[in-house]
Amino acid sequence: MIQIAPSILSADFLHLSEDVDLVNRHADLFHLDIMDGSFVPNISFGFPVVEAIAREARRPLDVHLMIVDPGKYIERFAQAGAAMISFHYEAALDESDSIIDLIHSFGVKAGIVINPDCPVEKIFPYLDKVDFVLLMSVFAGFGGQKFIPESLERIRSVRKELDRRGRRIPIEVDGGISPDNARSVIGAGAEILVAGSSVFKAADPAAAIAAMRL
Ligand code: DX5
Ligand code: ZN
Repeated sequence: MIQIAPSILSADFLHLSEDVDLVNRHADLFHLDIMDGSFVPNISFGFPVVEAIAREARRPLDVHLMIVDPGKYIERFAQAGAAMISFHYEAALDESDSIIDLIHSFGVKAGIVINPDCPVEKIFPYLDKVDFVLLMSVFAGFGGQKFIPESLERIRSVRKELDRRGRRIPIEVDGGISPDNARSVIGAGAEILVAGSSVFKAADPAAAIAAMRL
């Protein structure tokens, strides 16, 4: 099943309830980008915004941590209402295993994320343990960037390795996804599509979401 996860980073923060309503009615997950100005050069939003969205959300919250020392904040995001939490392998390295355990200890689904320049093999040791994989198709840090075409080959490689292991977990892809490239991203083996600007900057966001499911 294909799931569309609109990235709230591109929402209208002055009228957030309208965009939350859009996701509730037309999409599958809330993708929440947490940036600390250190792991990535940008700062996004934190607990008050996540908690406010959680109060109105009728779809699961998918929290994408782009922060240093991700283990430090797992409990807070679990308490804030996250159903899925992903952390960057590049920020966790040898601690990845214990961070996955920590996420699971709160009954939350765990995902591991890599940027486009990180070899996919780096996350293979965790594929039997995580509940989903998040592959960045732009460099983490900003919305509105252009999809990197080489990402398709990376999706295929991870899907192949998951198949080899008999793991039926979804691959989520994040960055530059729109109705124009959704079909090839799905064709490569992705099941969760994150989309920020192509949803919230569209003239008809509901139609943009529907177009990406095809
Ligand atoms: C980038 C974020 C993305 C971003 C996607 O660091 O992880 O989730 O908001 O935005 P678009 O779809 O505009 O590339
Ligand atoms: Zn993201």
